[in-house]
Amino acid sequence: AAAPTREPLADIGVIGGSGFYSFLSSPERHRVETPFGDPSDEIAVGEVDGRRVAFLARHGQGHVFPPHRVNYRANLWALRSLGVRQVLAPCAVGSLRPEHGPGTLVVPDQVVDRTWGRAHTVYDEPGPVVHVAFADPYCPRGRAAVLRASAGSRLDAVDGGTLVVINGPRFSSRAESQWHRAAGWSVVGMTAMPEASVARELAMCYSNACLVTDHDAGVEGQEAVTHEAVLQQFARSIDDLKGLLRVAIARLPEPEPDDTARCACRRSLDGLTLPFE
Ligand code: ADE
Repeated sequence: AAAPTREPLADIGVIGGSGFYSFLSSPERHRVETPFGDPSDEIAVGEVDGRRVAFLARHGQGHVFPPHRVNYRANLWALRSLGVRQVLAPCAVGSLRPEHGPGTLVVPDQVVDRTWGRAHTVYDEPGPVVHVAFADPYCPRGRAAVLRASAGSRLDAVDGGTLVVINGPRFSSRAESQWHRAAGWSVVGMTAMPEASVARELAMCYSNACLVTDHDAGVEGQEAVTHEAVLQQFARSIDDLKGLLRVAIARLPEPEPDDTARCACRRSLDGLTLPFE
């Protein structure tokens, strides 16, 4: 029998990080159950420039879930079950390069996962063994939309670079930070993994928009990073970042059937059918 299909409530998802408690005006709110437990919050669904968008606050209402306790699997599964196939994921990061200061928006093209102990795959049970390709972790079309939107924004955008994701919730020691910098990586955060890889496991397009809030401790002459400084800097740029994401959303490709999709993200499952389809 054909699997039940339902009209997607939204094609585009935004997972808002620190400083994002809302993105949409007067949204409908959906409580979604998943096989992995509850997502961080109810999902808000509304419109941006005629496009249907689902918004989820990554750390929950009131910022209660630290990066290592975010239920990434439930968050992505919940968005996907509402029909989302393109995710834009802003996040706060520290810069590992002197030339990229606070207020810069880095749109990475690579990621290094240094997290541990997080539930990191939706293919965890005996059953079909799934190894998704992750050589190019980010959706080229999502990245392009964010970069094009940055042209009209006050935020300076950097095209490409490697985001290293640490487990947190503490910041890096100077030696760890210098090591990340010496490896050639650009920015450091705590939430982009396993978010990016779980998105790929669900055949969703995903891209990060990383707002630099501080220089990490390994960049010469820097003070220790504090949570307060990160939040203050994020607050300064949040309106610009929201504006940029709204423009990016309007530039994302319209929904299309998987077999005509022009990016590999959507074909990561090679014939495996998810329960939503
Ligand atoms: N998020 C914001 N700044 C950070 C830093 N320096 N290290 C890790 N995550 C961060």
